[in-house]
Amino acid sequence: MNATQRPVDLRGQIGPITLSSYLFNASGPRCTTEQELIKLGRSRSAAVMTKSCTLAPRAGNAEPRYRALPLGAIQSMGLPNLGYQAYLEMLPRLKQVGKPVVISISGLSLADNTTMVSAFMASSADLLEINFSCPNIEGKPQLGYDLTQTRQALDTLCTLGDKPIGLKLPPYFDMAHFDAMADLLQQYPIAFVTCVNSVGNTLVIDPETETAMIRPKGGFGGLCGDYIKPIGLANVRAFRQRLPQRIDVIGVGGIKTGTDAFEYLLAGASAVQIATCYEEEGTSCFDRIERELGQLLQRKGYASIAQAKGQLKTLD
Ligand code: SIN
Repeated sequence: MNATQRPVDLRGQIGPITLSSYLFNASGPRCTTEQELIKLGRSRSAAVMTKSCTLAPRAGNAEPRYRALPLGAIQSMGLPNLGYQAYLEMLPRLKQVGKPVVISISGLSLADNTTMVSAFMASSADLLEINFSCPNIEGKPQLGYDLTQTRQALDTLCTLGDKPIGLKLPPYFDMAHFDAMADLLQQYPIAFVTCVNSVGNTLVIDPETETAMIRPKGGFGGLCGDYIKPIGLANVRAFRQRLPQRIDVIGVGGIKTGTDAFEYLLAGASAVQIATCYEEEGTSCFDRIERELGQLLQRKGYASIAQAKGQLKTLD
């Protein structure tokens, strides 16, 4: 930046909350324990997002359940977490870092979600992200692929308090599905959607050993990282085009450079979350990607995130 250039305003937005920057961690790697969450709070991550919690603590699926791949990872973690009460108990200490705290909730039933959402509605959490898209629990299909159950869940969960809530959605692959889900979601007072969770139930094989890469579910697991960036971008764009402005769209999937974050911004994301890159690089990824994004916006003459948001051009 030369002396006459003004710094780019990199603030992101989730519902009523303005973030100090455009990026924060996704619910996924390195956000399970209090130590990991405090470390996130002290990093350049704009918020502190917890691992999706369940009613009871969970050890998660059998190992190996995460494998790094040339362009990302396959994982079937199975929601290892400390149980929601542990996150409730540590919340006052997480809040001391001075950033918004986002609690990710992934109940195994509507009753579980009701209990946990009610409890966090009465807490000092800033936002709740309810996970309708974990592909890794045997016998529990992803809620976000079932419109009827999504409606039933929202009918209850949206009545439990005033704190802003959002939904973590699975990736959709058909225009009819974008239309149907967006039609449904806009009937509810949700503040944001997060697009996308990993692409569920993929299979990666090691041809040398003729074996699936991960143990759970016979090798089926969620694909993450670069592989899924075009899917994440498409979902952000599709939901931004269909949802009212009162619902922010948060992007996640394959963001490891400022350019990746910029592409999500063009698609209409109000903020982005980092998962696989954070797993591989640690908290330094937040400063690096933020710096790269700032430099890119500056070079392109954008003064702020808001100016570039949704500015994707198409060829028609
Ligand atoms: C997991 O813990 O299995 C990943 C969480 C998710 O995909 O929502």
